[in-house]
Amino acid sequence: MKLLVCGGAGFIGSTFVRLRVREHGDAVTVLDKLTYAGRRENLHDVAAEIRFVHGAIEDPVAVADAVAACDAIVNFAAETHVDRSISGPEAFIVTNMQGTHVLLEAARERGLRYLQVSTDEVYGSIEHGSFSEASPLQPSSPYSATKTGADLLVSSYFHTHGLETLICRGSNNYGPHQYPEKLIPLMILNALAGDRLPVYGDGRNVRNWLFVEDFGRGIGHVLAYGMPGEAYNCGGPDECENLAVVERILALTGADESLIEYVTDRPGHDRRYSLSSEKLQALGWRAQVRFDEGLARTVDWYRDNAWWWEPIRSGAYRDYYERHYGRALKT
Ligand code: NAD
Ligand code: TYD
Repeated sequence: MKLLVCGGAGFIGSTFVRLRVREHGDAVTVLDKLTYAGRRENLHDVAAEIRFVHGAIEDPVAVADAVAACDAIVNFAAETHVDRSISGPEAFIVTNMQGTHVLLEAARERGLRYLQVSTDEVYGSIEHGSFSEASPLQPSSPYSATKTGADLLVSSYFHTHGLETLICRGSNNYGPHQYPEKLIPLMILNALAGDRLPVYGDGRNVRNWLFVEDFGRGIGHVLAYGMPGEAYNCGGPDECENLAVVERILALTGADESLIEYVTDRPGHDRRYSLSSEKLQALGWRAQVRFDEGLARTVDWYRDNAWWWEPIRSGAYRDYYERHYGRALKT
């Protein structure tokens, strides 16, 4: 296929690009604004095999340049961190909603297949059981509200214009190349550095963990076999309380339990996410990586790739960390 991958320099997008180039031989163009979360380093090993366009999805001129000669758009580009959406939601509205609209228009004008990468957070929190694709959309954070708005806009282009749209909703991803503002890479790097591990609230919130390559393959599956107009959940095989995740990271890094620090809870913090992926499984997709194995692989990757995270931890991230957690990183 000839794919335009928006947000392909981020964590999941770069994993998807690598899979498509290596396993499918696709011709890939990446359109990415290179925000703090987007990095050319994430694509270093496939850089010679792809076309890279530096630009924003909300810019129709950049989109028109990038989309030329593509036959499908896969949109990963987003502002993605819930905490940042609480302190500054504006960029979330521009990228996640206006940007999606510009991409949909480009797909409509050219008759392209369009896949929107979405999240379990659009369903809100669930105490027991799992969300199916028929569950109501009840987002809680500005992040998930903008992702929900985007999903609804995508569906409207199917119903109104007959655009071949697909939505794939993933649960919490983890793995190599994840920016260390999210729980797992933040805790791994802090544990390796001997910094405190800031656990929100009582640490009993539950997330459904999905190894990033499993999500990349799930999205590829939806692109190939999904029914236009439909959404597909893509959930991980294991769920885990945050505190248990942190304890596993302590064990894998050899750091001491005394590093755990309970901090003020996130406002509107969703208690539990859980997805039923039966619809995607019926198309033949299965998660391959259990949480224990994936977490060990992820810790090893961060331990072995200081070249990737050292520039982040010594740059603007330090200011973000201090502002958000009210304490400076030690190292
Ligand atoms: P990320 O923050 O690592 O990467 C986002 C990428 O989008 C970066 O490369 C960034 O530069 C780019 N970007 C941001 N604004 C842009 C704009 N206006 N124009 C062009 N590019 C822009 O995010 P991620 O964790 O890889 O998430 C990718 C997608 O998957 C998002 O749509 C997210 O909502 C969704 N998702 C993430 C998770 C998760 O656990 N991380 C789970 C389910 C779904
Ligand atoms: P996060 O990685 O931000 O993903 P999301 O909020 O999109 O699920 O957070 C995962 C869980 O970890 C969530 O319950 C919030 C919690 N958390 C902490 O306890 N401490 C932290 O420093 C961070 C970033 C998250």
